[in-house]
Order: sequence, then structure tokens, then C-alpha cells
Amino acid sequence: MKIMKVEGNHKLSGTIKISGAKNSSVALLPASLLADTDVTICNVPEITDTDVLCETLEYLGADVRRASESVVITPTIENKVIPQELTKKLRASYYFMGALLGKYKHVEIYLPGGCSIGKRPIDLHLKGFEALGATITNDDEGKYVVDAKELKGANIYLDIASVGATINIMLAAVLANGKTIIDNAAKEPEIVNIATYLNNMGAKITGAGTSEIRITGVEKLHGCYHEVIPDRIETGTYLIIGALVGENLKVFNVIPEHVEALTSKLQEMGVNITIGSDSIVVSSKESYKPVNIKTMVYPGFATDLQQPFSVLAARCNGKMKVEETIWENRFMHLPELEKLGMKVERTGMVATFTGPNKLKGAEVKATDLRAGAALVAAALAAEGETTITDVEHILRGYEGIVEKLTDVGAKIKIEEI
Ligand code: EPZ
Repeated sequence: MKIMKVEGNHKLSGTIKISGAKNSSVALLPASLLADTDVTICNVPEITDTDVLCETLEYLGADVRRASESVVITPTIENKVIPQELTKKLRASYYFMGALLGKYKHVEIYLPGGCSIGKRPIDLHLKGFEALGATITNDDEGKYVVDAKELKGANIYLDIASVGATINIMLAAVLANGKTIIDNAAKEPEIVNIATYLNNMGAKITGAGTSEIRITGVEKLHGCYHEVIPDRIETGTYLIIGALVGENLKVFNVIPEHVEALTSKLQEMGVNITIGSDSIVVSSKESYKPVNIKTMVYPGFATDLQQPFSVLAARCNGKMKVEETIWENRFMHLPELEKLGMKVERTGMVATFTGPNKLKGAEVKATDLRAGAALVAAALAAEGETTITDVEHILRGYEGIVEKLTDVGAKIKIEEI
């Protein structure tokens, strides 16, 4: 098991480069199977989630060549059952359903149940596949078999603007016969990044980034070159760290509009940030005005930043309310933050923090990816040393986090125990 040791209360100055977006990459890699010839994807972050997907592509027979931050894929595969030992490592393996159904009209995949932050149902994904003409069976070991004689375009309304369902239906529809409309589609920037990738392959998708996406099926798709957009959640995480311990901390390779909900909250609190065209500079202060947040679908406040953001309550005079509306179990970091000295009460889906708090190092546990990010932020602001266990969660989604933080002055290291 890996643990992280952080000696807190050091000012961080210098520059952090943001990597490619995890939540784009985990869809772009499976989507590569839709092309008939080689694809090259640049700016793919080297994190365990992308490692698992590259391993799955190779398991299926594709040739995957990785060179620093780009991946070249020759998508020739034999379509076969994707086993649970691969899919249990990563929820986003479900994108292989849309890609393999779209390309081969058949997919067999073991999908794990919910993961720590919630049940993680895929009913909307399956409803979309059925609307396109697929039949689905799944046994009680979690094996799904999705089959279609023909995929025909359809009008699909999503009860929830689900990121995963929107992307998975796009993947299944690009080679279908006829037109598909996805109504109440998710509008996250990652959706636009996937749609651009598919259009670069020769797909005909319009409306990505709006709540109505139109797809006209084409005969086949060819290889292409594509770039992953910067990770807006990684960006937000480092901005929050900068608000806690930064001194002219510059975060670059950023798309500022993708983190607007966060930066406007930070400015409302009195955080000192300067927003450039592709970078943001942030410096910390001793105390801020408390604000309330409510997580929403994009462009609202991102649920993935809810946990790291809540650490700022330690610098606020008064109460901060944090309401989570997307995931039913995204408060597992609260007891860990209390060990570091934060004061919080939870009622239902609202956590109310009372600051200010003097954070002191302790031993804490990362329960999930973004909870782990919150603990790193709190540890950097705490007096003394903090040990974070189960850091594998953190390494799933933050490329080079120890190197990036060390380069700007943090005292942070990972040990194998
Ligand atoms: C994506 O998850 C992200 N993951 C999540 O980031 C992010 O929190 C989430 O979108 C919301 O922004 C990836 O992109 C790999 P959803 P996804 O489908 O697609 C319900 C992180 O920390 N729902 O938009 O799984 C669901 O239960 C991760 O990087 C259904 O009911 O999220 C949830 O309440 C965590 N049925 C809501 O919709 C479905 O078929 C939003 O889920 C699908 C979803």
C-alpha cells in the first residue's frame, strides 16, 4: 500500500502545468475502437485510470504505443468479453459498451456495481442503447451482453443530464443508420472534446456542449490526430491549494471558462486570483468570507470540486454550507477533515462547516479520488506532518501530483509500506 507524507504550512510559489483531462481521456481511449485506422491522442495524462484503459485495449487486441503524453492506437481487435478484473479497476470502462456496440453491434462486458461515491447506475446508458435497437441481457455476476442486428438512429431523452450516458450514446450512434437526437444531453466540456474527436474521425455530430446533440450516422470512421483538453478538475484543485498556501502560484495550460463557477466563488470569498488567457495566478490570505456552494451539472459548480473546496472553510470566519446534489455518498472526507481540525455537521446532502480552524497534521485515509485531493489540500495547510493512507485513489486522477507540488515548494512524498 502507498502512503503520502506531507509537512504542511509551506508557501507554494512557481508554476504548475495542468495535464490532459482524466474525464476526457477515459472516453477518448475506448472511442478509438470506432476508427478503422490508427489514431493519435496527445496530452493523455499518465494516471492509473488511463493505464487500465490502455491495458484493456491491448487485451482486446489493439496495438497501443505510449510515448510520454501521447498514445498511438492501431484499433484492430477481436471483439471479446471484457473481464471483471479489468473493469472493476475503473467505472469508466463502460465506454467500451458504446464503442464496441457502435462498431461491432455486439459487446460482452462485466461491469462492477456502484463505487464509493454512489450507486453509479447505468440505466440511462442502457435505455439509449435499446432506443438505438440493441437488446441487453445481464446476469447476476454483472455480465452485460449488448446485441443489435442493426443500429437505427432514434430520439433519446435523458431523464438526467448524465455525462456518461451522453457520451456512451454518442459512441453507439455515430455508425448507426439515420439520425439520432440526444435531448437533455450533458454539456460538460469533456463531451465537446469527445464529439470533436469523433468528428475528426469523420463522424457527423452537432450540438455538443448544448442540451441537444444531433448525430447523423456514417458508414465508417478513419484514424485521426486529437488533443485532450486541460483537466478542469485538476485546475480547480490546484487553485484551491493556491488559495490555502499559494504565493503567486501560477496554474497554466488552463481554459479559464471551464472553471468559472469555481473562480467566481473564490473571488466572492476574497481570494487573490488573476485570470489570464491560459493561466491563473493565485495567492493565499489568512482569512476569507464564507460562501455557500451547491453542486450542479456544468456550467454549475462541479461536484468533483466539492470536496477540495470545502477545505477553504478552515480559513473562513463563520459558516459555509456545501450542498451535494449529484452523488449520494460524496461526504466520506468529512470525518477525515475533522481529524485535521475542521468543524462540520452534516444534515442529509448538506455539510455545514464552521470556521476558522487551525489545521494540525494527523493520520487520515483517502476514501475516494476527490476526497483524497481534499486531504492533500488540508495537509498542505496544516501545522506539522500529515500521513494520508490509500493514496492509490489520488493517483488515479492527478498526474505527477507529488512532482508538481514539490516543484513549487511542497514537502510531500509517497512511501510504499
Ligand atoms: C462523470 O461521471 C465523471 N466521471 C464524474 O467524475 C463526475 O462526478 C460526473 O460525471 C458528474 O459530473 C467521468 O467522467 C469518468 P453522470 P458519470 O452519469 O458519467 C445518475 C471524478 O471524480 N445516473 O453524469 O458516471 C448518477 O447516479 C468522477 O472524476 C443515473 O441515474 O456521472 C448521478 O447521480 C467522479 N443513471 C448523476 O446521474 C445513469 O444511467 C450524474 O451522473 C447514469 C447516471
